[in-house]
Amino acid sequence: MIDYFKYHWQQTEEDSHIVECIKKSFIILDVGCGFNQYKKYAKSPQYFKGIDIANEDADEVIDIIDFKTDKRFDLIICYGSINFYDRKWVEKRLDKVVNLLDDAPGSRICMKVNPGNPHADGTMLDFFPWTMDYARDLSHKYGLMIENYRKKGSTGGRFKFDYVRSDYPYSKQSEDIYAFV
Ligand SMILES: C[S@@+](CC[C@H](N)C(=O)[O-])C[C@H]1O[C@@H](n2cnc3c(N)ncnc32)[C@H](O)[C@@H]1O
Repeated sequence: MIDYFKYHWQQTEEDSHIVECIKKSFIILDVGCGFNQYKKYAKSPQYFKGIDIANEDADEVIDIIDFKTDKRFDLIICYGSINFYDRKWVEKRLDKVVNLLDDAPGSRICMKVNPGNPHADGTMLDFFPWTMDYARDLSHKYGLMIENYRKKGSTGGRFKFDYVRSDYPYSKQSEDIYAFV
């Protein structure tokens, strides 16, 4: 996985939802930032940190597990990065991401996952088979809402959603995964 992302992978998108979220946020972490394409949208580059396990364009080349900071972030982008191997690998990294999320209501983790489709160049990696049921299980585990669910095509493809902190206790929240904020 690391060699593929270091030597072969090519960037495929800039997502307008991410750009909008960056404009509304103060301190931002991009986990698995790839070529760090979202940094240019930050109001101040000093408040945007892109980390990546393989890509030298990151501000820091590191596995999210080993990343050390005393900051908390009101926006964390995880586009295609918390997406490999097994449940243990995924949850160890997502636990770390949730710990880095600011406690304030409205703080947001933007997720993009690939349940097992080849990359644009045909390469197939050892993807974790994400499902929306699993994403919901984790939203209960972390006490986070799901918003902005979107997907291309009807079956099997990549999908995106946000985990969001709310100011209501999780048990009292009504979940509208399609609400676009
Ligand atoms: C599919 S690419 C997406 C890159 C970028 N987020 C984008 O949307 O264009 C996934 C990136 O996540 C990085 N990555 C995978 N596992 C990671 C980890 N545990 N910690 C940090 N980066 C990771 C890879 O090196 C790769 O650059």
